[in-house]
Amino acid sequence: MKGLYTALVASAITGAFAAPTPTDQDVKPRAAAAACASAVTLTGNPFTAKSQVANKDYSEKVKAAAAQMSTNQAAALKVADVPTFLWIDRIAAIELIEPNLKDIPCDKLAAFVIYDLPGRDCAAKASNGELPAGDLATYKSKYIDPIVAIFKKYPNTGIVLVIEPDSLPNLVTNKDLQTCKDSADGYKKGVAYAFKSLNLPNIAMYVDAGHGGWLGWNDNLKPGAQMLASVYKDAGSPKQVRGFATNVAGWNSWDLSPGEFSKKTDAQWNKAQNEKQYVDLFSPALKTAGFPAQAIVDTGRNGVTGLREEWGNWCNVKGAGFGRRPTSSTSHTLTDAFVWVKPGGESDGTSDESADRYDSFCGKTESFKPAPEAGQWNQQYFEELVANANPKF
Ligand code: BGC
Repeated sequence: MKGLYTALVASAITGAFAAPTPTDQDVKPRAAAAACASAVTLTGNPFTAKSQVANKDYSEKVKAAAAQMSTNQAAALKVADVPTFLWIDRIAAIELIEPNLKDIPCDKLAAFVIYDLPGRDCAAKASNGELPAGDLATYKSKYIDPIVAIFKKYPNTGIVLVIEPDSLPNLVTNKDLQTCKDSADGYKKGVAYAFKSLNLPNIAMYVDAGHGGWLGWNDNLKPGAQMLASVYKDAGSPKQVRGFATNVAGWNSWDLSPGEFSKKTDAQWNKAQNEKQYVDLFSPALKTAGFPAQAIVDTGRNGVTGLREEWGNWCNVKGAGFGRRPTSSTSHTLTDAFVWVKPGGESDGTSDESADRYDSFCGKTESFKPAPEAGQWNQQYFEELVANANPKF
């Protein structure tokens, strides 16, 4: 009734124009369409009350890419509306946060990846970071602290974070590599610092937990869970850590059964043959270890399966297609949402053998070539993801 009353008064004031009758929605103050009117506290599954917003940087890249396409252009343009995570992959990228945070509507979530640990990507080369192993001081003061300062300016906006892909899983399975030994202390302390510092009421954090073909092996489940839990406890068990992220920038199917690698002889030692099974196995292991155990799963590039010889092959897999769209309707209690963490079209690593960050995984027969440096746009690869999207756009 209040709405109707306001509408009548408004039309009386403006006179007898044949203007459309304002509705309740029209008379809402403008600010209501922007951030929430009061401070946001994210509890439970953050993806149920709010949904993720498409980030502007990726949307722009996609629109520019679509403009160059002669086929599938309409389908490609739809990708611009899909929410992805914005990777803060270097100190200089911190400036991208605010433009993607300042006008988020109240019913939406902004989403970022925290990704700049010292000695990053210790078991590979493609994403070696800007900070050398050991330089935890810079990670804290020049990377995490400034990010926290920005987030503190937006208490009325919901934010979801994926914390440091690959880092803790590498400390479980690649701990004998010298580079990972050099990085180990910084990863543990760095992730704990991120957990503690980013523990703001309007933030929900998911720490990276690799994928089924990584920590899903029978022998890795428990040590993996203990690794995540020990860092979490070192941080003082911060409330806003909601759980773990799987399949980040990965290729595994959500629920293909039998799983993609089920026929391999070593499959007997891994019951996590798809990501759903992985979540079902890893979540209880985490609970036992004392870590909150809700999952989000990256389905951005898993539309096509059967492309890899080994499920450890991670670089620009040829023939891949965009996967299931982001949603909180997962039909799986332990999984909060399907998300697109890796923005499809951005490279996993360069195929240029002479480059410093060339990793032999990016030179495999099943890897798309030519491919630019990690994070750089790969137009042809994007076009392939669109053409092979499953479900189709
Ligand atoms: C790269 C980052 C990039 C991210 C998303 C990672 O592999 O190292 O630079 O931002 O992928 O494309």
